[in-house]
Amino acid sequence: MIDTAIAAKFAAKETPFYYYDMAVLNKTLEAAHVASHKRGFHVHYALKANFNDVLLKAIKQIGFGADCVSGNEVKKAIECGFAPQHITFAGVGKSDKEINYALQQNIFAFNVESIQELEVINELASKQGVKANVALRINPNVDAHTHHYITTGLDENKFGIPNADLEKCAAVLKKCEFIELVGLHFHVGSQITDMTVFKSLCVKVNEWKNWFEERGTQIRVLNVGGGLGIDYKNPDGNPIPDFEAYFDIFDRFLERKPHQEVHFELGRALVAQCGSLVSRVLYVKNGVKKNFLVLDAGMTELMRPALYQAYHKMENISDGTAAEALNYDVVGPICESSDCFGKEVPLPISKRGDLIAIRSAGAYGEVMASRYNLREEIRFVYSDQL
Ligand code: LLP
Repeated sequence: MIDTAIAAKFAAKETPFYYYDMAVLNKTLEAAHVASHKRGFHVHYALKANFNDVLLKAIKQIGFGADCVSGNEVKKAIECGFAPQHITFAGVGKSDKEINYALQQNIFAFNVESIQELEVINELASKQGVKANVALRINPNVDAHTHHYITTGLDENKFGIPNADLEKCAAVLKKCEFIELVGLHFHVGSQITDMTVFKSLCVKVNEWKNWFEERGTQIRVLNVGGGLGIDYKNPDGNPIPDFEAYFDIFDRFLERKPHQEVHFELGRALVAQCGSLVSRVLYVKNGVKKNFLVLDAGMTELMRPALYQAYHKMENISDGTAAEALNYDVVGPICESSDCFGKEVPLPISKRGDLIAIRSAGAYGEVMASRYNLREEIRFVYSDQL
Protein backbone atom coordinates (compact mmCIF):
# COMPACT_ATOMS: atom_id res chain seq x y z
CA MET A 1 0.00 0.00 0.00
CA ILE A 2 1.26 3.46 -0.83
CA ASP A 3 1.02 5.08 2.60
CA THR A 4 -1.21 8.02 3.39
CA ALA A 5 1.68 10.44 3.98
CA ILE A 6 2.90 9.88 0.42
CA ALA A 7 -0.65 9.89 -0.97
CA ALA A 8 -1.20 13.29 0.68
CA LYS A 9 1.74 14.67 -1.31
CA PHE A 10 0.07 13.46 -4.51
CA ALA A 11 -3.08 15.48 -3.80
CA ALA A 12 -2.06 18.61 -5.68
CA LYS A 13 -0.44 16.78 -8.59
CA GLU A 14 -1.92 16.42 -12.01
CA THR A 15 -2.84 12.83 -12.78
CA PRO A 16 -2.22 10.32 -14.22
CA PHE A 17 1.48 9.87 -13.48
CA TYR A 18 3.98 7.13 -12.85
CA TYR A 19 5.27 7.10 -9.32
CA TYR A 20 8.68 5.53 -8.75
CA ASP A 21 9.68 4.50 -5.24
CA MET A 22 13.45 4.89 -5.42
CA ALA A 23 14.00 3.09 -2.09
CA VAL A 24 12.29 -0.04 -3.48
CA LEU A 25 14.33 0.25 -6.67
CA ASN A 26 17.63 0.61 -4.80
CA LYS A 27 16.87 -2.28 -2.43
CA THR A 28 15.95 -4.50 -5.40
CA LEU A 29 19.12 -3.58 -7.29
CA GLU A 30 21.21 -4.20 -4.20
CA ALA A 31 19.67 -7.65 -3.64
CA ALA A 32 20.22 -8.62 -7.29
CA HIS A 33 23.76 -7.28 -7.20
CA VAL A 34 24.71 -9.17 -4.01
CA ALA A 35 23.20 -12.48 -5.19
CA SER A 36 24.80 -12.30 -8.66
CA HIS A 37 28.15 -10.84 -7.66
CA LYS A 38 28.95 -13.51 -5.08
CA ARG A 39 28.53 -16.17 -7.75
CA GLY A 40 30.64 -14.25 -10.29
CA PHE A 41 27.59 -13.67 -12.53
CA HIS A 42 27.14 -10.63 -14.78
CA VAL A 43 23.79 -8.86 -15.12
CA HIS A 44 22.80 -6.78 -18.14
CA TYR A 45 19.61 -4.83 -17.46
CA ALA A 46 17.01 -5.24 -20.24
CA LEU A 47 16.20 -1.63 -21.16
CA LYS A 48 13.01 -2.68 -22.87
CA ALA A 49 11.39 -3.06 -19.43
CA ASN A 50 11.88 0.63 -18.68
CA PHE A 51 14.29 3.15 -20.22
CA ASN A 52 13.45 6.04 -17.90
CA ASP A 53 16.69 8.04 -17.40
CA VAL A 54 16.32 8.27 -13.62
CA LEU A 55 15.99 4.51 -13.24
CA LEU A 56 18.76 3.85 -15.76
CA LYS A 57 21.19 6.00 -13.80
CA ALA A 58 20.53 4.00 -10.61
CA ILE A 59 20.96 0.74 -12.51
CA LYS A 60 24.20 1.91 -14.08
CA GLN A 61 25.41 3.04 -10.65
CA ILE A 62 25.10 -0.47 -9.19
CA GLY A 63 27.38 -1.74 -11.96
CA PHE A 64 25.03 -3.66 -14.27
CA GLY A 65 25.46 -3.65 -18.05
CA ALA A 66 22.71 -2.93 -20.59
CA ASP A 67 20.77 -5.29 -22.82
CA CYS A 68 19.29 -3.37 -25.76
CA VAL A 69 16.90 -4.27 -28.57
CA SER A 70 17.16 -1.27 -30.87
CA GLY A 71 19.76 1.20 -32.04
CA ASN A 72 17.98 3.86 -30.00
CA GLU A 73 18.24 1.76 -26.84
CA VAL A 74 22.00 1.34 -27.48
CA LYS A 75 22.24 5.13 -27.88
CA LYS A 76 20.21 5.71 -24.72
CA ALA A 77 22.40 3.31 -22.72
CA ILE A 78 25.56 5.10 -23.88
CA GLU A 79 24.03 8.52 -23.07
CA CYS A 80 23.21 7.27 -19.56
CA GLY A 81 26.83 6.27 -19.01
CA PHE A 82 26.87 2.51 -19.72
CA ALA A 83 30.23 1.55 -21.19
CA PRO A 84 29.96 0.04 -24.71
CA GLN A 85 31.87 -3.05 -23.45
CA HIS A 86 28.88 -3.69 -21.19
CA ILE A 87 26.19 -3.34 -23.85
CA THR A 88 24.55 -6.19 -25.77
CA PHE A 89 22.28 -5.74 -28.76
CA ALA A 90 19.55 -8.35 -29.27
CA GLY A 91 16.44 -8.62 -31.43
CA VAL A 92 15.13 -10.64 -34.31
CA GLY A 93 15.06 -7.72 -36.77
CA LYS A 94 18.08 -5.45 -36.51
CA SER A 95 18.26 -2.98 -39.41
CA ASP A 96 21.50 -2.25 -41.29
CA LYS A 97 21.46 1.28 -39.85
CA GLU A 98 21.21 -0.09 -36.30
CA ILE A 99 23.94 -2.68 -36.89
CA ASN A 100 26.26 -0.06 -38.38
CA TYR A 101 25.69 2.24 -35.42
CA ALA A 102 26.36 -0.52 -32.86
CA LEU A 103 29.51 -1.58 -34.77
CA GLN A 104 30.82 1.97 -34.56
CA GLN A 105 30.24 1.93 -30.80
CA ASN A 106 32.18 -1.37 -30.45
CA ILE A 107 29.59 -2.92 -28.14
CA PHE A 108 30.19 -6.10 -26.17
CA ALA A 109 28.09 -8.38 -28.39
CA PHE A 110 25.31 -8.73 -30.92
CA ASN A 111 22.92 -11.53 -29.99
CA VAL A 112 22.35 -13.01 -33.43
CA GLU A 113 19.09 -14.72 -34.28
CA SER A 114 19.60 -16.21 -37.78
CA ILE A 115 22.25 -17.31 -40.27
CA GLN A 116 21.23 -14.49 -42.59
CA GLU A 117 21.72 -11.93 -39.83
CA LEU A 118 25.18 -13.40 -39.16
CA GLU A 119 26.11 -12.91 -42.82
CA VAL A 120 24.78 -9.34 -42.86
CA ILE A 121 26.71 -8.39 -39.72
CA ASN A 122 29.86 -9.95 -41.21
CA GLU A 123 29.44 -7.94 -44.40
CA LEU A 124 28.73 -4.64 -42.62
CA ALA A 125 31.69 -5.22 -40.25
CA SER A 126 33.97 -5.92 -43.23
CA LYS A 127 32.92 -2.59 -44.80
CA GLN A 128 33.82 -0.79 -41.57
CA GLY A 129 37.03 -2.84 -41.24
CA VAL A 130 36.10 -3.95 -37.71
CA LYS A 131 35.33 -7.24 -35.99
CA ALA A 132 31.83 -7.81 -34.63
CA ASN A 133 31.48 -9.69 -31.36
CA VAL A 134 28.62 -12.11 -31.59
CA ALA A 135 26.65 -14.46 -29.35
CA LEU A 136 24.41 -16.96 -31.13
CA ARG A 137 20.85 -16.97 -29.82
CA ILE A 138 19.72 -20.56 -29.77
CA ASN A 139 16.06 -21.46 -29.52
CA PRO A 140 16.21 -24.17 -26.83
CA ASN A 141 12.57 -25.31 -27.17
CA VAL A 142 11.89 -24.97 -23.43
CA ASP A 143 8.34 -24.12 -22.33
CA ALA A 144 8.37 -21.11 -19.99
CA HIS A 145 4.87 -21.85 -18.62
CA THR A 146 3.89 -18.20 -18.92
CA HIS A 147 1.48 -16.16 -21.09
CA HIS A 148 1.80 -17.26 -24.74
CA TYR A 149 2.50 -13.67 -25.87
CA ILE A 150 5.65 -13.60 -23.73
CA THR A 151 6.88 -17.14 -24.40
CA THR A 152 9.93 -16.97 -26.65
CA GLY A 153 11.84 -20.24 -26.43
CA LEU A 154 9.59 -22.69 -28.25
CA ASP A 155 10.07 -23.98 -31.81
CA GLU A 156 6.89 -22.15 -32.85
CA ASN A 157 8.30 -18.76 -31.74
CA LYS A 158 10.12 -16.43 -34.13
CA PHE A 159 13.13 -16.07 -31.83
CA GLY A 160 16.57 -17.63 -32.00
CA ILE A 161 18.32 -19.97 -34.39
CA PRO A 162 16.37 -23.22 -34.80
CA ASN A 163 18.29 -26.31 -33.73
CA ALA A 164 18.16 -27.74 -37.25
CA ASP A 165 20.13 -24.72 -38.56
CA LEU A 166 22.99 -24.91 -36.06
CA GLU A 167 25.20 -27.31 -38.06
CA LYS A 168 25.04 -24.92 -41.02
CA CYS A 169 25.43 -21.93 -38.72
CA ALA A 170 28.67 -23.34 -37.26
CA ALA A 171 30.02 -23.82 -40.80
CA VAL A 172 29.02 -20.29 -41.89
CA LEU A 173 30.62 -18.88 -38.75
CA LYS A 174 33.99 -20.37 -39.70
CA LYS A 175 33.89 -18.43 -42.98
CA CYS A 176 32.89 -15.10 -41.41
CA GLU A 177 36.25 -13.37 -41.02
CA PHE A 178 34.77 -10.27 -39.42
CA ILE A 179 32.88 -12.11 -36.71
CA GLU A 180 34.28 -13.05 -33.32
CA LEU A 181 32.12 -15.60 -31.50
CA VAL A 182 31.95 -14.67 -27.83
CA GLY A 183 29.23 -16.97 -26.65
CA LEU A 184 25.78 -18.50 -26.74
CA HIS A 185 22.54 -16.75 -25.86
CA PHE A 186 19.18 -18.10 -24.67
CA HIS A 187 15.95 -16.51 -23.46
CA VAL A 188 12.80 -18.54 -22.95
CA GLY A 189 10.19 -16.00 -21.85
CA SER A 190 9.12 -13.45 -19.30
CA GLN A 191 7.25 -13.41 -15.95
CA ILE A 192 8.49 -16.92 -15.16
CA THR A 193 7.65 -17.94 -11.61
CA ASP A 194 8.21 -21.68 -11.93
CA MET A 195 11.91 -22.15 -11.11
CA THR A 196 12.01 -25.60 -12.76
CA VAL A 197 11.83 -23.76 -16.10
CA PHE A 198 15.29 -22.32 -15.42
CA LYS A 199 16.57 -25.76 -14.45
CA SER A 200 15.34 -27.14 -17.80
CA LEU A 201 17.05 -24.20 -19.51
CA CYS A 202 20.37 -25.07 -17.81
CA VAL A 203 20.15 -28.62 -19.18
CA LYS A 204 19.75 -27.25 -22.74
CA VAL A 205 22.54 -24.70 -22.29
CA ASN A 206 24.89 -27.47 -21.16
CA GLU A 207 23.96 -29.60 -24.16
CA TRP A 208 24.55 -26.83 -26.70
CA LYS A 209 27.76 -25.67 -25.07
CA ASN A 210 29.10 -29.24 -25.30
CA TRP A 211 27.91 -29.50 -28.88
CA PHE A 212 29.99 -26.45 -29.88
CA GLU A 213 33.02 -27.51 -27.85
CA GLU A 214 32.99 -30.98 -29.42
CA ARG A 215 33.30 -29.18 -32.76
CA GLY A 216 36.34 -27.25 -31.54
CA THR A 217 34.54 -23.93 -30.92
CA GLN A 218 35.34 -22.34 -27.59
CA ILE A 219 32.53 -20.59 -25.75
CA ARG A 220 33.48 -17.77 -23.39
CA VAL A 221 30.04 -16.43 -22.41
CA LEU A 222 26.85 -18.26 -21.54
CA ASN A 223 24.03 -15.72 -21.67
CA VAL A 224 20.88 -17.24 -20.21
CA GLY A 225 18.60 -14.23 -20.78
CA GLY A 226 16.09 -12.85 -18.31
CA GLY A 227 12.53 -13.75 -17.41
CA LEU A 228 12.44 -13.91 -13.62
CA GLY A 229 8.87 -13.07 -12.59
CA ILE A 230 7.49 -10.92 -9.79
CA ASP A 231 4.53 -11.16 -7.40
CA TYR A 232 1.78 -9.04 -8.96
CA LYS A 233 -0.76 -10.27 -6.40
CA ASN A 234 1.19 -9.23 -3.31
CA PRO A 235 3.61 -6.38 -4.09
CA ASP A 236 3.89 -5.33 -0.45
CA GLY A 237 4.49 -8.86 0.84
CA ASN A 238 7.06 -9.63 -1.86
CA PRO A 239 8.52 -6.37 -3.11
CA ILE A 240 11.86 -7.98 -3.96
CA PRO A 241 12.08 -11.17 -6.08
CA ASP A 242 13.99 -14.12 -4.66
CA PHE A 243 17.25 -13.45 -6.48
CA GLU A 244 19.12 -15.92 -4.24
CA ALA A 245 16.92 -18.83 -5.34
CA TYR A 246 17.06 -17.73 -8.97
CA PHE A 247 20.83 -17.38 -9.29
CA ASP A 248 21.34 -20.49 -7.17
CA ILE A 249 19.59 -22.62 -9.83
CA PHE A 250 22.11 -21.52 -12.46
CA ASP A 251 24.99 -21.90 -10.01
CA ARG A 252 24.01 -25.50 -9.34
CA PHE A 253 22.88 -26.68 -12.76
CA LEU A 254 25.01 -24.83 -15.32
CA GLU A 255 28.22 -26.67 -16.10
CA ARG A 256 30.83 -24.01 -16.62
CA LYS A 257 34.60 -24.01 -16.85
CA PRO A 258 36.55 -21.49 -14.76
CA HIS A 259 37.09 -19.16 -17.74
CA GLN A 260 33.41 -19.20 -18.74
CA GLU A 261 31.25 -16.20 -17.80
CA VAL A 262 27.54 -16.40 -17.10
CA HIS A 263 25.43 -13.43 -18.19
CA PHE A 264 21.82 -12.54 -17.39
CA GLU A 265 19.41 -10.05 -18.98
CA LEU A 266 16.93 -9.16 -16.25
CA GLY A 267 14.28 -6.53 -16.87
CA ARG A 268 11.00 -6.92 -15.00
CA ALA A 269 12.48 -8.39 -11.81
CA LEU A 270 14.60 -5.25 -11.31
CA VAL A 271 12.07 -2.49 -11.95
CA ALA A 272 8.45 -3.73 -11.80
CA GLN A 273 7.75 -3.32 -8.10
CA CYS A 274 9.14 0.19 -7.73
CA GLY A 275 6.53 1.68 -10.08
CA SER A 276 2.84 2.50 -9.69
CA LEU A 277 0.51 4.26 -12.06
CA VAL A 278 -1.42 6.83 -10.04
CA SER A 279 -4.70 8.13 -11.40
CA ARG A 280 -7.93 9.82 -10.27
CA VAL A 281 -11.48 8.61 -10.39
CA LEU A 282 -13.25 10.82 -12.91
CA TYR A 283 -16.67 9.26 -12.63
CA VAL A 284 -18.49 6.56 -10.72
CA LYS A 285 -20.97 5.02 -13.03
CA ASN A 286 -23.52 2.53 -11.88
CA GLY A 287 -24.43 0.47 -14.91
CA VAL A 288 -27.25 -2.02 -15.22
CA LYS A 289 -25.12 -4.95 -14.16
CA LYS A 290 -21.90 -3.25 -13.11
CA ASN A 291 -20.35 -0.52 -11.04
CA PHE A 292 -17.77 1.26 -13.13
CA LEU A 293 -14.93 3.40 -11.86
CA VAL A 294 -13.82 5.57 -14.77
CA LEU A 295 -10.20 6.64 -14.25
CA ASP A 296 -8.21 9.37 -15.94
CA ALA A 297 -5.55 6.74 -16.83
CA GLY A 298 -6.20 4.21 -19.54
CA MET A 299 -4.63 1.54 -21.70
CA THR A 300 -2.59 4.36 -23.25
CA GLU A 301 -0.64 4.69 -19.98
CA LEU A 302 -0.57 0.99 -19.00
CA MET A 303 -1.29 -1.46 -21.76
CA ARG A 304 -0.63 -4.77 -19.99
CA PRO A 305 -4.18 -5.49 -18.80
CA ALA A 306 -5.66 -4.77 -22.26
CA LEU A 307 -2.97 -6.68 -24.13
CA TYR A 308 -2.34 -9.71 -21.91
CA GLN A 309 -5.30 -9.58 -19.51
CA ALA A 310 -2.53 -8.99 -16.95
CA TYR A 311 -3.44 -8.57 -13.30
CA HIS A 312 -2.26 -5.44 -11.46
CA LYS A 313 -3.24 -4.84 -7.86
CA MET A 314 -5.31 -1.67 -7.41
CA GLU A 315 -5.70 0.45 -4.29
CA ASN A 316 -7.73 3.48 -3.36
CA ILE A 317 -5.08 5.61 -1.61
CA SER A 318 -7.19 8.67 -0.79
CA ASP A 319 -7.56 9.76 2.77
CA GLY A 320 -10.82 8.94 4.50
CA THR A 321 -11.47 5.95 2.30
CA ALA A 322 -14.71 4.15 3.18
CA ALA A 323 -14.50 0.90 5.13
CA GLU A 324 -17.24 -0.68 3.07
CA ALA A 325 -16.19 -2.39 -0.18
CA LEU A 326 -17.82 -2.82 -3.54
CA ASN A 327 -16.84 -4.66 -6.70
CA TYR A 328 -15.97 -2.33 -9.56
CA ASP A 329 -14.98 -2.71 -13.17
CA VAL A 330 -12.07 -0.26 -13.27
CA VAL A 331 -11.85 1.30 -16.71
CA GLY A 332 -10.06 4.10 -18.54
CA PRO A 333 -11.29 6.90 -20.82
CA ILE A 334 -10.15 5.35 -24.13
CA CYS A 335 -12.71 4.45 -26.76
CA GLU A 336 -12.12 0.70 -26.62
CA SER A 337 -13.86 -1.92 -24.49
CA SER A 338 -10.45 -3.52 -23.86
CA ASP A 339 -9.53 -0.34 -21.95
CA CYS A 340 -10.17 -2.04 -18.65
CA PHE A 341 -7.70 -2.45 -15.76
CA GLY A 342 -9.74 -5.13 -14.02
CA LYS A 343 -13.22 -6.57 -13.67
CA GLU A 344 -15.10 -7.05 -10.40
CA VAL A 345 -12.23 -5.51 -8.42
CA PRO A 346 -13.07 -5.24 -4.70
CA LEU A 347 -12.30 -1.67 -3.59
CA PRO A 348 -13.53 0.56 -0.77
CA ILE A 349 -16.55 2.57 -1.93
CA SER A 350 -14.91 5.20 -4.12
CA LYS A 351 -15.90 8.66 -5.25
CA ARG A 352 -14.98 11.23 -7.87
CA GLY A 353 -11.52 12.65 -7.17
CA ASP A 354 -10.17 9.62 -5.25
CA LEU A 355 -6.66 8.51 -6.11
CA ILE A 356 -6.25 4.97 -7.38
CA ALA A 357 -2.78 3.38 -7.47
CA ILE A 358 -2.17 0.60 -9.97
CA ARG A 359 0.75 -1.31 -8.55
CA SER A 360 3.74 -3.25 -9.97
CA ALA A 361 3.76 -1.07 -13.07
CA GLY A 362 7.48 -0.22 -13.21
CA ALA A 363 8.20 -2.75 -15.97
CA TYR A 364 6.58 -2.63 -19.41
CA GLY A 365 4.43 0.28 -18.23
CA GLU A 366 5.57 3.71 -19.36
CA VAL A 367 7.68 2.21 -22.16
CA MET A 368 4.58 0.70 -23.77
CA ALA A 369 2.51 3.87 -23.45
CA SER A 370 1.03 5.37 -26.60
CA ARG A 371 -0.49 8.67 -27.74
CA TYR A 372 -3.66 6.96 -29.03
CA ASN A 373 -6.62 9.38 -28.76
CA LEU A 374 -3.90 12.09 -28.71
CA ARG A 375 -3.37 11.52 -25.02
CA GLU A 376 -0.95 13.69 -23.10
CA GLU A 377 2.70 12.74 -22.61
CA ILE A 378 3.21 10.62 -19.55
CA ARG A 379 4.16 12.39 -16.28
CA PHE A 380 6.45 11.15 -13.49
CA VAL A 381 6.89 11.58 -9.76
CA TYR A 382 9.95 10.17 -7.95
CA SER A 383 9.89 9.40 -4.23
CA ASP A 384 13.16 11.21 -3.57
CA GLN A 385 11.84 14.42 -5.15
CA LEU A 386 8.58 14.59 -3.19
N1 LLP B 1 16.17 -10.84 -22.97
C1 LLP B 1 15.40 -11.00 -24.06
C2 LLP B 1 15.99 -11.54 -25.26
C3 LLP B 1 14.04 -10.64 -24.01
O1 LLP B 1 13.28 -10.82 -25.10
C4 LLP B 1 13.48 -10.12 -22.82
C5 LLP B 1 12.08 -9.71 -22.75
C6 LLP B 1 14.33 -9.95 -21.72
C7 LLP B 1 15.66 -10.34 -21.82
C8 LLP B 1 13.85 -9.39 -20.40
O2 LLP B 1 12.89 -10.21 -19.85
P1 LLP B 1 12.36 -9.94 -18.35
O3 LLP B 1 13.51 -10.18 -17.38
O4 LLP B 1 11.88 -8.56 -18.28
O5 LLP B 1 11.28 -10.93 -18.20
N2 LLP B 1 5.71 -6.63 -22.50
C9 LLP B 1 5.64 -7.90 -21.80
C10 LLP B 1 7.01 -8.52 -21.60
C11 LLP B 1 7.80 -8.70 -22.88
C12 LLP B 1 9.14 -9.32 -22.65
C13 LLP B 1 9.97 -9.26 -23.87
N3 LLP B 1 11.29 -9.78 -23.75
C14 LLP B 1 4.89 -7.70 -20.48
O6 LLP B 1 4.43 -6.60 -20.22
O7 LLP B 1 4.71 -8.65 -19.73
